[in-house]
Amino acid sequence: MQRLAKGWRRDGVRVGFVPTMGYLHEGHMSLVRRARKATGENGRVVVSIYVNPSQFGPHEDLKKYPRDMPRDLQLCRKAGADVVFAPRDEEMYPGGSNAAANDSLAFSTYVFEEQMSRGMEGASRPTHFRGVTTVVAKLFNIVLPDVAVFGAKDYQQAAVIQRMVRDLNFPVRIVVAPTRRESDGLAMSSRNKYLVGKLRAQARVLSQALRAAQNAVRRSKGGLPAGKLRSELRRLISAQPDARLDYIEFVEDKTLKPAKSVKTGTRLVLAVFVGSTRLIDNARL
Ligand code: PAJ
Repeated sequence: MQRLAKGWRRDGVRVGFVPTMGYLHEGHMSLVRRARKATGENGRVVVSIYVNPSQFGPHEDLKKYPRDMPRDLQLCRKAGADVVFAPRDEEMYPGGSNAAANDSLAFSTYVFEEQMSRGMEGASRPTHFRGVTTVVAKLFNIVLPDVAVFGAKDYQQAAVIQRMVRDLNFPVRIVVAPTRRESDGLAMSSRNKYLVGKLRAQARVLSQALRAAQNAVRRSKGGLPAGKLRSELRRLISAQPDARLDYIEFVEDKTLKPAKSVKTGTRLVLAVFVGSTRLIDNARL
């Protein structure tokens, strides 16, 4: 992959990149089309498909994370990707991503962003962002992109990656593309596959909470106390029998610092378990 990318760059071909964990949906495809647009007619677009073990916690869904390579390849072709990079675990993490410290040949270098990755997803999933920044840094060094496209669906992830790129001088432009949704508002996600039976309808509560907050801000003229709005949304979510709130945070759009007063431009980020599936969503209010 790196040799190929070096050849393109030598020839002045712009390289666009969309990192994914596969089981692709329309949200991913919109990123591929965005990368296509950013690199132009003569550019090349690379999609990586890799379920990165180092970003999953010990009790998370790494083993059962959905996979369908033949279908993914078809979708990539249709969306205009030129290359799919799908490495094996042994290539990405020789000796394993959590190898014993006494294995001197094992993988042992990680990238960790220390500010923006601490709250929200980082608080609920303590080793998650270390895995994300490490694998994305590796992928950037392998694919050598000019532009990489991430989805606003994972808002904190996009912010952490932007910070990593700035702090470590990666010569990569980061584009953040809007969240794609199902017609009832549910943000598209590979994990939606887990929402069977009555859970699927209950999963609408995330986007409903975003909309309720948007309406509240619109009505408020000036700003609302975060605590009050959080209690209202908590009540909305707990009305669903199988929904359990993980967190609701109101943060400043750029810095991800907690916002005490919720107003136009504040970002609402939330995580909710629906059954045993953990879903996330966010919106700029
Ligand atoms: P994955 O969850 O497969 O998502 C890959 C990319 O697609 C991310 O940038 C994500 O924000 C974006 N995406 C997911 N659902 C979306 C939607 N409904 N609308 C728009 N974009 C959407 O995020 C990861 O994989 C991994 O953490 C990764 C960055 C690949 C590192 O392993």
